[in-house]
Amino acid sequence: MTATMTSATETSAAETPPVLRLDGVSHTYADQRRRTTVLKSIDYSFRRGTFYTVLGPSGSGKTTLLSLASGLDAPTRGTISFRGQDLTKLGLGRYRNKHAATIFQHYNLLTYMTALQNVTTAMEITGVKPDRGGRRARALELLERLGLDKSMATRNVMRLSGGQQQRVAIARALACDVDILFADEPTGNLDEDTAQGIIDTFRELAHEQDKCVVVVTHSQRLAAQSDRVLTLRKGKLTDEARPR
Ligand SMILES: Nc1ncnc2c1ncn2[C@@H]1O[C@H](COP(=O)(O)OP(=O)(O)O)[C@@H](O)[C@H]1O
Ligand SMILES: [Mg+2]
Repeated sequence: MTATMTSATETSAAETPPVLRLDGVSHTYADQRRRTTVLKSIDYSFRRGTFYTVLGPSGSGKTTLLSLASGLDAPTRGTISFRGQDLTKLGLGRYRNKHAATIFQHYNLLTYMTALQNVTTAMEITGVKPDRGGRRARALELLERLGLDKSMATRNVMRLSGGQQQRVAIARALACDVDILFADEPTGNLDEDTAQGIIDTFRELAHEQDKCVVVVTHSQRLAAQSDRVLTLRKGKLTDEARPR
């Protein structure tokens, strides 16, 4: 990370301890025939109040990085810590349920449920306390904000378009009110206006709700609107100045 502090976001972020830290993180996939080292000794600190994007060629390990940082898998070497606590000690399942939400590339929606049920189920798992209107009202409000009206919200997710399913996945992640939000190519299937709406939501979450938002993307347009652009290449992660 550069030492120069060029924006208010960086200045305040530099003073707070990282919400997530990667120390010497390496990851190797192995089968009987060969071993592929995808990530090579990565050190990085992710902070609250910051919207990060991760760029990199296809196959560079972006999804792998996200699956480790989101606690789906443990790195073959190195440690990942959440607020100073090693994820393997905290428990990967607990970390995923309570502290980090992920928007997967292939949505991973529960296909036998409606959009609304997908969102409320995630809220139950995370233990989001129902407010006055209940979980259902909050879920409907979030879906509505993402452009899905009540008739779409109460439809089985398989009867929604790809872009609509994507928005259900985003609503589900937002409903959980966790500290860190990860997303893998979240705007890939969306038209420009909807994509811009999602980008605005990510910025708002980082800047107004002090979340840490980490988004893998191929979109320069999205990257240009993030606070820090990380690039993954040949197993290494570099933190570049934001493109202008
Ligand atoms: N479960 C797996 N087993 C073996 N190799 C894998 C596995 N997942 C990913 N890989 C390999 O790791 C490399 C990085 O994959 P991935 O993290 O999906 O990259 P990206 O998301 O940047 O396209 C690729 O060469 C891919 O084939
Ligand atoms: Mg990928």
